[in-house]
Amino acid sequence: MAQKITIVGAGNVGATTAQRLFDKGYADIVLVDIIEGLPQGKALDILESGPVVGSDAKIIGTNSYEETAGSDIIVITSGIARKPGMSRDDLLLTNMKIVSDVVETTSTQSPDSILLIVTNPLDAMAQQALKISGFPKERVVGMAGVLDTARYRSFLAQELDVSVDAVQAYVLGGHGDTMVPTVGPTSIGGIPVSDLIPADRLEQIIQRTRDGGAEIVGLLKTGSAYYAPSASIVEMVGSIILDKKLILPCTAYLEGEYGLNDLFVGVPVKLGKTGIEHIFEFKLTKSELAALHKSAESVRETLEIMAGK
Ligand code: NAI
Ligand code: 2OP
Repeated sequence: MAQKITIVGAGNVGATTAQRLFDKGYADIVLVDIIEGLPQGKALDILESGPVVGSDAKIIGTNSYEETAGSDIIVITSGIARKPGMSRDDLLLTNMKIVSDVVETTSTQSPDSILLIVTNPLDAMAQQALKISGFPKERVVGMAGVLDTARYRSFLAQELDVSVDAVQAYVLGGHGDTMVPTVGPTSIGGIPVSDLIPADRLEQIIQRTRDGGAEIVGLLKTGSAYYAPSASIVEMVGSIILDKKLILPCTAYLEGEYGLNDLFVGVPVKLGKTGIEHIFEFKLTKSELAALHKSAESVRETLEIMAGK
């Protein structure tokens, strides 16, 4: 039987993810949104690209969840973006409600699925998904580190005028201003990055990485990034569905790793058909470990706001 992937939210990230996954032909796709006609129209448009791109995958759009039953992976992108006059906490609580409702329904319809959370604030939404679904922690994973690392790798490759393939890097921590683009585990063609780029210039690249999401918002003005985010989701989905066991920076629930407990942050994981198959504890410098703990603290503050509601 063909594998099935549900994508909830047919906005910029969800629809672009659907298109990329359809092109890959990994699995049948169900695209869900609350707006009538939106997922149906986008799914049909993508389906009609099949003869041109050479994909026989099936894709449907729907406003209900019956068609999602028995999915192998549920990608959750539903939510709202921050609007003028809205605080970060307003956004947090609105998306918390949306993600809770979506997780409750999808996890019931697809009890053996892996939940791949995308909605922001990412680390907090992953925590909420774990709580509401009652799934084992291995089957709830958040996407942020692959995106943040892709930005870091792009900037490093540009700086050194080398292929992105030559750049190995990891951005860890929460998906926000306190994320941790690492230096120790980052190398270009096997050469430590600190041997190739002077420290002050490297710091500028690291800061640009941290500001990567805001840089796109500043340019687009009407929304946030979706091409690199959807590509990042597809890399994670591919590692799961094809059981590739890639080692990717993903948002995972920690119980003691890196000295952190009971919260989601970005760490290197092995991603395979059962979800998070292992969390790797990289050797970090003292300052990188301290930065990871600081980042976890800011995630914890968000969790405290959610717990108060
Ligand atoms: P968008 O506004 O284009 O799409 C969101 C979609 O969710 C809309 O079509 C909306 O109708 C739908 N939706 C809202 N409530 C729903 C519900 N209860 N059930 C089903 N669908 C519902 O936004 P975009 O650009 O696609 O971003 C989606 C989310 O992903 C945002 O929270 C954004 O911040 C986040 N994001 C996270 C990234 C990451 O690295 N984790 C990267 C990029 C975006
Ligand atoms: C980003 O980093 C909005 O979280 C999103 O582009």
